[in-house]
Amino acid sequence: MTALEPPTLLLRRVRPYGEGDPVDVLVRDGLIAAVGPDAGDDLPGDAEIHDMGGAVLLPGFVDLHTHLREPGREDTETVATGSAAAARGGYTAVFAMANTQPPQDNQTVTDSVWRIGRSVGLCDIHPVGAVTVGLKGEQLTEMGQMASGEARVKIFSDDGMCVYDPLVMRRALEYSAGLGVLIAQHAEEPRLTKGAVAHEGPTAARLGLTGWPRSAEESIVARDAILARDAGARVHICHASTTGTVELLKWAKAQGISITAEVTPHHLLLDDTRLESYDGVYRVNPPLRESHDTLALREALVSGVIDCVATDHAPHAAQEKCCEFAAARPGMLGLETALPIVAALLVESGEMSWRDLARVMSTRPAEIAGLQDQGRPIRVGEPANLAVVDPDSPWTVVGEELASLSANTPYEGMTFAARVVGTVYRGRMTSRDGEVLA
Ligand code: NCD
Ligand code: ZN
Ligand code: ZN
Ligand code: ZN
Repeated sequence: MTALEPPTLLLRRVRPYGEGDPVDVLVRDGLIAAVGPDAGDDLPGDAEIHDMGGAVLLPGFVDLHTHLREPGREDTETVATGSAAAARGGYTAVFAMANTQPPQDNQTVTDSVWRIGRSVGLCDIHPVGAVTVGLKGEQLTEMGQMASGEARVKIFSDDGMCVYDPLVMRRALEYSAGLGVLIAQHAEEPRLTKGAVAHEGPTAARLGLTGWPRSAEESIVARDAILARDAGARVHICHASTTGTVELLKWAKAQGISITAEVTPHHLLLDDTRLESYDGVYRVNPPLRESHDTLALREALVSGVIDCVATDHAPHAAQEKCCEFAAARPGMLGLETALPIVAALLVESGEMSWRDLARVMSTRPAEIAGLQDQGRPIRVGEPANLAVVDPDSPWTVVGEELASLSANTPYEGMTFAARVVGTVYRGRMTSRDGEVLA
């Protein structure tokens, strides 16, 4: 066996989609080779055997929205550390947002991030290309070059910034339809969020924080749905955060508009009452909203109005978060805590099955991005990109212990029942019991 060939793996006692009695799953040459009681017959002598004790087996998770900070802010995250965080979180593919320094707005940068991801080898790293040069919202990038380069860029986004100019957005959508790529919009009308640091509502008013109204998000969602309709293009809404956005998505989908949307674990779980502490760790864009928003977002994810979960994993240095609330950088870690949160809110509550969770964390995001070998069903002949989840293995989040180079988790000290106990990427175990395997 050479270093390049994945080993033969036997996952003993796993429950695909958490359904039925435990079975054994044989992984060979990067593919699922057998599922069932006889899967482990005729094992080669050098096979790796992992007894998973009846844990839930799911397709590996796909994150449409991650910030890896390389190039430019390697003090807060790198492709390598972010890949390690992804592996620990059960992810086998992540999309790395374009707001690096320099930004991923040309083929040289997107191909370089792609190559670093390949050499790290812990999960598929797909660089997102910028929609506009320098994320300035003015001049379109050479999307075609990035799409046809080595990285085969599939998603374009100025995330961090909104493509606010309707004419620029219209052209980007028209161009994207021709190229068969996807525009992902950070929906924030900048004229409505000048100086805003918190959700506009009673909490921000009481705390004396400048408000970010729901309308700043919803007006862009409505506009872009209409622009996508007329351009015959697809559009994807990043980090949907409000009840009104859910209503607009419902409307747009009912019209037959090709619109998809993601929600983050933090917008599902947390609301703006967290801001009472004035702790900068809770500052994020879009801001934490009110509890009725979190409920509407959960319901929309269950019903499919919101397509998938994306982490918006946004590492920041301690000095950028541990300061006055309004001076803190927006963003929070997400890769290593996504599964436990979604499981707690939706599976443990009985609103979703594990199969539903696989849909929102793997199958749908893979479809939205057009990935062929991710989010596949668990059956013989399919690529072995898998996540193994122990639904009852309580653990407490400690930011410093996360694989991420940064520690800005809003879940510090919180205990979750479910945890990822194994990740298989292209037939190789990339994490086991929290340990990242090279
Ligand atoms: C993101 C970041 O830090 O890059 N911050 C955030 O608050 N979500 C940018 C973004 O997703 O808009
Ligand atoms: Zn954003
Ligand atoms: Zn983001
Ligand atoms: Zn860490």
